[in-house]
Amino acid sequence: MLFFTLLLEVIWILAAEGGPHGQDHWPASYPECGSNAQSPINIQTDSVTFDPELRPLQPHGYDQPSTEPLDLHNNGHTVQLSLPSTMYLEGLPRKYVAAQLHLHWGKTGSLGGSEHQINSEATAAELHIVHYDSDSYDSLSEAAPKPQGLAVLGILIEVGETKNPVYEHILSHLHEIRHKDQKTLVPPFNVGELLPPRRDQFFRYNGSLTTPPCYQSVLWTVFNQRAQISVEQLKELQETLFSTEEEPSKLLVQNYRAPQPLNQRTVSASFIQVQSSYTTGEMLSLGVGILVGCLCLLLAVYFIARKIRKKRLGNGKSVVFTSAPATEA
Ligand SMILES: *[C@@H]1O[C@H](CO)[C@@H](O)[C@H](O)[C@H]1NC(C)=O
Repeated sequence: MLFFTLLLEVIWILAAEGGPHGQDHWPASYPECGSNAQSPINIQTDSVTFDPELRPLQPHGYDQPSTEPLDLHNNGHTVQLSLPSTMYLEGLPRKYVAAQLHLHWGKTGSLGGSEHQINSEATAAELHIVHYDSDSYDSLSEAAPKPQGLAVLGILIEVGETKNPVYEHILSHLHEIRHKDQKTLVPPFNVGELLPPRRDQFFRYNGSLTTPPCYQSVLWTVFNQRAQISVEQLKELQETLFSTEEEPSKLLVQNYRAPQPLNQRTVSASFIQVQSSYTTGEMLSLGVGILVGCLCLLLAVYFIARKIRKKRLGNGKSVVFTSAPATEA
């Protein structure tokens, strides 16, 4: 009996944690998490629909979000930066004002931590900038359960060669909010520079919040291009924060949700894919194949040439090169 109670306790703790195991239990407490238009998704680029009507997104007030410092908060699930309503998006069916941004990442040392995937490939981390429809609703909480009440920008983050100075505006403050419920203030910075350089290439689909209660109210924009941070910056993200208020501390890691079934949904693209449908592995083997082929051809030509030369020398004939007769131009 005691064993059974303990077992239930363990299951409950795992479910509450929200790790890859816990996610399966979300629908039991939050039915919408088990519904049919959930996020994130794996974006299969050969199945997206090019939509020439998709307007480019215009972020306003992103370069100078405010003169006041911004709140940075460890809420035990992620690190979250509060954004002022002077930041808003144009190019969507309605005006969406910014509310907050936050990050998702993987285990310590892992290069997989994004929520969205493109062609089954996850990146190291993902940034979400959350907006709500301010034409129709007064607040984020009012808009959150309503159809298309929210618009979220998803930016896939990969590891690059150099330190990203803009992401550093967030990452350099993590040590001030190591424990759950801690807050600090961050001087305002150009939030627009967190986005990848090419903002005209994106995917658009109807989905949900990626954490309970998983409301299916999000008009998603996932950029095709990735942002880059250094491996040291990723380490800082993976190793600084705790999901607990006090000792014993538990690292805040692996706070991403697994891809959800697309079901009948359409994913639109603002651009036509130019890259081939080959995967990195296929490209690599194709490259190696071509290289080996060329090498074989070169060797064959070499041996044939040598054989011909030997034959000629064997015949005792000297090879005389004569210049071609000069022709008039
Ligand atoms: C999202 O849903 C709305 C309302 O049902 C629809 O009009 C719109 O075309 C959908 N957008 C995409 C990208 O599927």
